[in-house]
This record gives sequence, C-alpha cells and structure tokens, in this order.
Amino acid sequence: MNRTDEIRPVYAEGREVVMLDQRLLPEREAFMLLSTVDEVCEAIRTMVVRGAPAIGIAAAFGAALAVGEAQKCAPCDCFSSFEKSLEKLKATRPTAVNLEWALNRVREYWLSSRNLDASAREKGAWELAQRILDDDVAANRALGMHGAELIPDGSNVLTHCNAGALATGGYGSALGVIRAAVEQGKKVHVWVDETRPRLQGAKLTAWELQRDGINHTLISDNMAASLMKAGRIDLAVTGADRIASNGDTANKIGTYSVAVNCEKHGLPFYVAAPESTIDRSIATGQEIPIEEREASEVTHVGETRICPEGVRIYNPAFDVTDAELIGAIVTEKGIHRPPFAFGAD
Ligand code: MRU
Repeated sequence: MNRTDEIRPVYAEGREVVMLDQRLLPEREAFMLLSTVDEVCEAIRTMVVRGAPAIGIAAAFGAALAVGEAQKCAPCDCFSSFEKSLEKLKATRPTAVNLEWALNRVREYWLSSRNLDASAREKGAWELAQRILDDDVAANRALGMHGAELIPDGSNVLTHCNAGALATGGYGSALGVIRAAVEQGKKVHVWVDETRPRLQGAKLTAWELQRDGINHTLISDNMAASLMKAGRIDLAVTGADRIASNGDTANKIGTYSVAVNCEKHGLPFYVAAPESTIDRSIATGQEIPIEEREASEVTHVGETRICPEGVRIYNPAFDVTDAELIGAIVTEKGIHRPPFAFGAD
C-alpha cells in the first residue's frame, strides 16, 4: 500500500499520478506511475482505476497534466489543446458523472487563471486536483457518519459492486457507511455480492473488508433474494455512479435487482454517494448514459472462456434504480429521504 496505511487508489507524487492497479487485486498490490494525459485516459478506460469518485479524481489529475501539456503548445493553440485533452478524458467512461464534474472544475480553473504565468498556473491545477481528492475523502467520512445511523447494531447488510476506499479517494461511500458503523462499535456482517461480470465484489470489496477485519461473507449475485426470504439480510446499501434530480440512481449492473428484491421482502435499500455524484442537470434516470463494455467480460472469467465461440453478447455495465425503490440517499450533507428533489437545491 502507499505511504499511509489507508487504501488510496489514486494520488499524486510530484507531477506524476500514482494508481493502484485494481485489475491485479486481490492477487497483487502494484502501482502504476502515469505522466501523460493519454496514459491517464488508458488507465481509466481499462479500469486500472474505477468507481465513480475515483474516476473523477483520476480525471482531475489527468486534467492537471493537460494544463502542463497544453502550455507547451504555441500560445494560440493552448486552449484548444487543453480542451482536446479534456474531451479525451471525458470520453473514457460515460456513466459516472464525477468524471465530467471534476473536468468542469479544472476547466473553470483554467479560464480563471489566465493571468498566472505557466508554472503558477500548472501548480494551481495540481493543487485543485489534490483538493478534489481531499474533499472526497472528507465527504466519505461525513456521509459515513450520517449513514451509520441507518445501520442497526447486529445487522446483516448486503452490498453490490465495490463502493469502498478503492472506488473513491479513500474510506468509501457504501463501505464508508459500514466502516463508520463498525467504528461506532456496532456489530455488522456484510453480505458481498460477487458482481458479475467483472467481479468487483469478489475481487475488491472482499479484499477491502478482509484487510479491515470487517465480518463478511461472499455470495454470487443470484443468491441474495433467497437470503432475503430466509431473513438473513436486514438492509442493502450501495454506491452510485450518477443520481438524477428525482433520485433515480445509476449504479453497477445488478443494483436494480437488489433494490427490487429489497422491496419484495420489505427491506430498506439505501444509496450512499458524495454530492459530486448528483447530476442536477438531468430530471430522471432515463437521461443517464449507460456504458456498454466489451463482450470478453461476459464470455470469459479470467482467461477462461465460459460459453461457445460466436455467441451474441450484451454487456451493459450499469442499470438505473428508480427513486421509488430507494429508502434514503446519504451524502456528506446528511440523509436525504424521498421524495428526492435535488434539482431544487
Ligand atoms: O465499473 P465500475 O467498477 O467503475 O463501477 C463501479 C460502481 O458501479 C460503483 O458501485 C459506483 O461507482 C459507486 S463507487 C463509490
């Protein structure tokens, strides 16, 4: 792990971006050093770093690199070169709004820093990216504290995908809520959905919880409903990739089934996410772009093909859970209860 004992999936060292290569977990903890915008784009696209807030932070550092790269162009090309880099970063993954949010912040900085000399301007961009990282960790700790109120002592909590420290600047959103409850001395047991096709639950969430000594059990995704029926799950909490003004929430594919199953069994379904995940520019989840990823994620587990050659594949990476299925959305500002109206804030 890095300098601190806490999990930090993306951070800066000097003018380089350091990323824990999440594709190698849980077998290996290896870091990549990235020094160009193109390298950061490739790392986001290939999921070296993943999880909405972590993608946003990676993009912010990528945009800081873009400031340096753009300023090396002839003065007249400077802004268009910077914009091209932002477009490249934005195109890496479409669903998590944190990416666009972070890029807009660095763009605003660029526009407001015309009077600075090149080196001061670049320094300011790195400081802003670092602030975006630090603010995210603080937001997760705050939302964790708020959300811990929703976790009764002795509860069995289901989570889907990885919304932990690995998916954020650190501490985690859904896992931040669980971590905070455990820090308060509550006994919590976590049911971890493995999360096909990329297995973020099995590879990442189980790794984080084991590392932190939080009681958990890994299940395959199709087991959750029967555990609910048997009374072995008390509530579910997940992260989010984009939350519309009405509370409709995009998250990892399979989250919608978790919410529907919670409704069927009378269990609360909660979402935990920083405010940077709320997209106030869209009214409902219908406007959320859903990323489709390569067929090999479904045809293979690791290196092993699990279906016939040539079979047709559909692989949407996210789904949208209707606001009416969500009992609360927890952010650093507190616990939002339905009806949600984020556009009105
Ligand atoms: O495809 P991924 O691994 O980037 O998807 C991640 C998720 O869906 C997470 O649950 C979501 O980003 C919340 S992360 C705090």
